[in-house]
Amino acid sequence: MNIHEYQAKALFEKYGVPVPKGAAAKTPEEFINALADLPEGPTMVKSQIHAGGRGKGTFTDGYKGGVKFCKTKTEAKEVAARMLGNTLVTIQTGPAGRKVQTIYFTVASDIKKEYYLAILLDRAASRPVIVASTEGGVEIEKVAHDTPEKIVTVHVDPTVGLAGYQSRELAYALGLEKYGKATIAHFGKLMSAFYELFVKEDCSLCEINPLVVLKSGEVVALDAKVDFDDNAEFRHPEWDKLRDEAEEDPTELEAKKAGLNYVSLDGNVGCLVNGAGLAMSTMDIIKHVGAEQGVTPANFLDVGGGATQEQVTKAFKMILKSPKVRAIFVNIFGGIMKCDVVATGVVAAAKELGLAVPLVVRLEGTNVELGRKILNESGLKIEAATTMADGARKIVAAVVAGGVK
Ligand SMILES: Nc1ncnc2c1ncn2[C@@H]1O[C@H](COP(=O)(O)OP(=O)(O)OP(=O)(O)O)[C@@H](O)[C@H]1O
Ligand SMILES: [Mg+2]
Repeated sequence: MNIHEYQAKALFEKYGVPVPKGAAAKTPEEFINALADLPEGPTMVKSQIHAGGRGKGTFTDGYKGGVKFCKTKTEAKEVAARMLGNTLVTIQTGPAGRKVQTIYFTVASDIKKEYYLAILLDRAASRPVIVASTEGGVEIEKVAHDTPEKIVTVHVDPTVGLAGYQSRELAYALGLEKYGKATIAHFGKLMSAFYELFVKEDCSLCEINPLVVLKSGEVVALDAKVDFDDNAEFRHPEWDKLRDEAEEDPTELEAKKAGLNYVSLDGNVGCLVNGAGLAMSTMDIIKHVGAEQGVTPANFLDVGGGATQEQVTKAFKMILKSPKVRAIFVNIFGGIMKCDVVATGVVAAAKELGLAVPLVVRLEGTNVELGRKILNESGLKIEAATTMADGARKIVAAVVAGGVK
């Protein structure tokens, strides 16, 4: 789950990661109160959307820059009025862009140099990794590609936590000693707070780009990106208040509300599967058999072990409604899940919305005979598959026969 910069900065403040003073506003009336909290003088106006590259972005009406420097608060208010409600297109939003619904005003800092700093999970190493670079402000992917030697990484043993020597190692690797001992100490304090936030708030990514050294020698976070690990949602009731539904994939949101694990993908085969492991291997086998011919999964969907008939109906309807789906593969291994429940749900959804694309079904497990009977008697045009491989071959053939799109 993503949150906005202004929300991430509130977390930074809570843990003691220094940020310039700022305030968010959602309406022109709120601009006045938000600005009243800030000192007179240079102010940054920052569009709040869940995408990077805002500074270099352009609004759909031609207005340039989703992050702007203003000399005065009066100018900041005018700039904010141009951004609010306007649609910002950046390298990360896609051509449709994102509508700006919140503006963040913040004190403009006297920057000496911009750096990059992030903590994320290195799954291969099974531990958090700190990534830092002297090339802050620009796209880190470009730095990693063109000048990988300018990226420093430090792995942290989660049972020990971040050690002081590791923060110092990073500070020296970034060359911070040239600003004096106080800056090294500042960075060390920031690093400890930042790591504590990453762990305690169950983040999958915390990024500061740019982290800056000010003319005063202090180290401050000028931007903030925080992604939470959805698997920890059960212990964070407060995340609900941070969620911005306008920024989320509407189908994924609908699935979440129905208690389904759904992730939209780019392909053309709709998949209804029970169990995350089976869902993953279903994606794999479709790609294995079909990728060369342009047949790949349109979604990951795990209806779970104990899904009700209503949930199955909902899930199947979501797949039916997706315009990119050219064929549907139902792959169920009924353990706790009963095959007749799945069959009834699929038939109910197909009857309501109509079934315009080929449907391949592989059913095994509890109540399988009853499930097959329900499908056979439904009058729906269904191709039965005996194994996963058989199902994958049949679904790929169906999409290819329909002229792959
Ligand atoms: N408070 C500030 N004071 C001075 N300059 C700032 C401030 N905030 C941002 N900037 C400048 O604006 C640039 C872009 O801002 P920022 O990184 O927040 O947005 P962005 O372009 O969307 O970046 P990202 O792609 O990392 O999200 C920064 O690199 C920095 O030079
Ligand atoms: Mg940035």
